[in-house]
Amino acid sequence: MLNVSKVSKIYDGKLAYRALTDIDLTIAGGEFVGIMGPSGSGKTTLLNMIATIDRPTTGEITISGKDTSKLDRNELAVFRRRELGFVFQDFNLLHTLTVGENIVLPLTLDGSKVSEMKQKAAAIADRLGITQIMNKRVYEISGGQAQRAAIARAMIHSPKLLLADEPTGNLDSKAAKDVMELLESINQEQQTTMMLVTHDAVAASYCHRVVFIKDGRFYTEIHRGDNRQAFFQKIIDLLSLLGGYSHDLSSIRLS
Ligand SMILES: Nc1ncnc2c1ncn2[C@@H]1O[C@H](COP(=O)(O)OP(=O)(O)OP(=O)(O)O)[C@@H](O)[C@H]1O
Ligand SMILES: [Mg+2]
Repeated sequence: MLNVSKVSKIYDGKLAYRALTDIDLTIAGGEFVGIMGPSGSGKTTLLNMIATIDRPTTGEITISGKDTSKLDRNELAVFRRRELGFVFQDFNLLHTLTVGENIVLPLTLDGSKVSEMKQKAAAIADRLGITQIMNKRVYEISGGQAQRAAIARAMIHSPKLLLADEPTGNLDSKAAKDVMELLESINQEQQTTMMLVTHDAVAASYCHRVVFIKDGRFYTEIHRGDNRQAFFQKIIDLLSLLGGYSHDLSSIRLS
């Protein structure tokens, strides 16, 4: 479903900066993959390139068999809207709109019928437990509610690939678990392929596989198997090996 081949990224500027080197990553349809690594290791850079928000300096990314670098601006806009869903770290909700208006935004852009949009929005809001805040403006809701609204917006058009950067970053442990359980069930029911960047070992333990990157390079990957608790422990061990996580490790939550 997703194939990242020999991808490198150099940010130009006064001082060119090499953020990623020779990343290879294949994700099968329906897979749920976590990306972890110390701050500055290149996780968001990788996600942005897969999301077609940014382009690799060298290497190739194909999604559903399409080489995304070969699409022109218009094709890219349609491709993004139809195939991809994003949950950004800072949610990217539009503050002057209501929660409901934010959620139907991807459908509005695609010219869907109002009745169809309403029905889909109601169904997903129910699923996420945010029905009662649909008419509130974004500045009137809590961080956890905003996170759910962002997930609803990312999911409403049933994307084939959902990309999320720290979707539990601003949540307490209970809300984070709810969000992860929700993503897990969407993944199972709709076979949505998911890729999630996270610093949170509990969140990562819901993934089928976690890929670790360090200094812009692939470091290692581990697979979950059927025991989430054991997987969580493996993730913790790898993070301590990787370094850069002393703060996180001092405040580990038991899942
Ligand atoms: N637009 C940019 N221009 C120049 N350098 C950048 C740019 N964006 C990111 N970088 C650099 O690339 C490296 C990787 O950044 P990236 O945001 O991908 O890290 P990250 O793994 O997501 O970190 P974090 O966990 O803190 O979010 C960092 O050293 C960063 O300073
Ligand atoms: Mg980042």
